[in-house]
Order: sequence, then C-alpha cells, then structure tokens
Amino acid sequence: MGITKAVIPAAGLGTRVLPVSKALPKEMLPIVDKPAIQYIVEEAVASGIKDILIITNRGKTIIEDHFDRSFELEDKLLSNQKNDVYEEMKKISDLANIYFLRQKETKGLGHAVSCAKSFVQDEAFAVLYGDDVIIGEDPVCAQLVRAYKETGLTVLGVNKVKENEICKYSSLKVEHMKGNMFKCTDMIEKPSPDRVMSLYSILGRCILTPDIFDILDNTKPGAGGEIQLTDAIKVLAQSVGAVAVNFTGKRYDMGNKLGIMMASVEVALKHKEIGQDFRTYLSDLAKSL
Ligand code: UTP
Repeated sequence: MGITKAVIPAAGLGTRVLPVSKALPKEMLPIVDKPAIQYIVEEAVASGIKDILIITNRGKTIIEDHFDRSFELEDKLLSNQKNDVYEEMKKISDLANIYFLRQKETKGLGHAVSCAKSFVQDEAFAVLYGDDVIIGEDPVCAQLVRAYKETGLTVLGVNKVKENEICKYSSLKVEHMKGNMFKCTDMIEKPSPDRVMSLYSILGRCILTPDIFDILDNTKPGAGGEIQLTDAIKVLAQSVGAVAVNFTGKRYDMGNKLGIMMASVEVALKHKEIGQDFRTYLSDLAKSL
C-alpha cells in the first residue's frame, strides 16, 4: 500500500502575486537559486514517489523546460570544467518520471486534481500544491504516506493557522487520535467567523484515495466560484472519515508576497554559498530599521 504517484497542481493564475505572475508562473519563483516547484518535486521524490504529474496551463511551458535536459548549457558547463554544476543540472531532469497535463480552464484546485484521473487510475496518490514549499528534516509528504500506510484513509497535512487568518483557509473538525494524528469528520473552505470548526487547516499536502474523482465530478463551484478540493474531501471525511496529520516543517506560501520574502530570507541565511555573507548583510541592515 505504498504511494508512488503524485500530482502537483500548478495551473493557477497567481493573482495575489501579480505582476510577476503575469508571464512567470509563481511556481517558478526562485527561493534564492531554486524554483519553488523544484523543492516540491524533491520532497515528493524524498518521500518515495516515482511518477509525478504536474498540472499546467498556457504560459507555463518554462516549468517543462526546467525539468528537461539542456544540452547546450551542459556542454558549456563541461567545457568550462564546472563539473559540480553540470551534475546538479543533469540531476534535475533525472529526479523522477515527470508528466505534464494542461488544465484547459482555470476552474479551481478541485478541477485541477480531477484532470489527473487517467494518470492516477485506481491508486491512492499524493497531492502537493505547486505554490506551497515546506522545508524540514522529515519530508511532509513522507509523514502523510506513513499515516496512509497505517490507516488506508485519506490523509490531510494540517497545521494551525492564526485565528484572524482562518477565513482565508479551510477549517477542519478534528478529534485527537494519537501523537500528531487527528480524525477529521468535517471541514469548510474559507469559513465566516461563526462557521470556524477549528484552527487546523489543510496546508498544501494530502494523500487522496481514488474515490475522490467521482466526488469531484459531482462537486459544484464553491467559495470564489471555483471547484474546491476541500468540498470534495469533505464528502469523504463525512462518510468514511479522514486523518489529519499535524506535520512538522516550515511552510512558505509562494502564492503571497510576504511568503515569498520569508522563504528567500530564511533559505538564504542557511545557504552554503551565500549564508554567511547574507547574515552579515542582514544584521547590518537590521540595525538601521
Ligand atoms: P491557489 O488558489 O493558491 O492558486 O491554488 P491561484 O488560484 O493561482 O491563487 P490566486 O488566488 O489567484 O493568487 C493552490 C494551487 O493550486 C493550483 C495553483 O497553481 C496553486 O499551485 N491551481 C489553482 C490549479 O492548478 N488550478 C486552478 O484552477 C487553481
């Protein structure tokens, strides 16, 4: 009962990070020197995933280019004896079997996931949102895979969000099971204050069972007029139940401006090449704030 397939929805319009996302997919925004989506693919691979489907749309072909070979660049690096960089570049295209599919209309995250039906077939699969980078010792996707192996149920990666921000996220009804695992029996997307169920919210990762596809086919547009993945998962949670895992790892929301800056600063501070210089720069700058 392992999980070998992952879907990365990356077809959103990124309206919260315009103008940069007008021509550049937000999933390709750099965190220092690596695009967000590469961190996500690496997390999936580190969690034992072999086949990855990235859902894209018009204007996102540079995501495909990034995971392809670049022979001209590789030749140049080799002839300049930059062997380490050459190996690093080649490794990107060898990470996993990466497939691409276009979501022809941007009808929401639930719709993007439903496009993966023929790729997934009848296996449980991981979903990693293309704009949520989560960095930690233990890959979040692996934490969810372990919970799936134990329960066989839909598994949701959750963390608590701030009370004044829950209205922008999903809110889950949960009961503690053991350790960092909760049973989830209900949920609501973007709740008004009187409908908040808890501060636990699905943050960018889940393992879904294939019965989600029939449910998605019957899911009407919800919050924001989009087909919401949460509305479909809710049907599973209310019937067979789902498991929420309060994951460890630091999440950076690359779909919002503050999240992009936090990711860059924190990753730069730990970066092997520029970390020390950046720390000196930042502490000098902080004195003038
Ligand atoms: P978001 O809701 O954060 O993305 O979806 P968005 O629609 O691009 O955001 P804003 O509100 O306009 O700024 C989470 C993930 O789902 C993908 C996005 O690319 C993102 O990685 N997504 C969203 C799709 O693939 N298709 C969609 O129709 C919507």
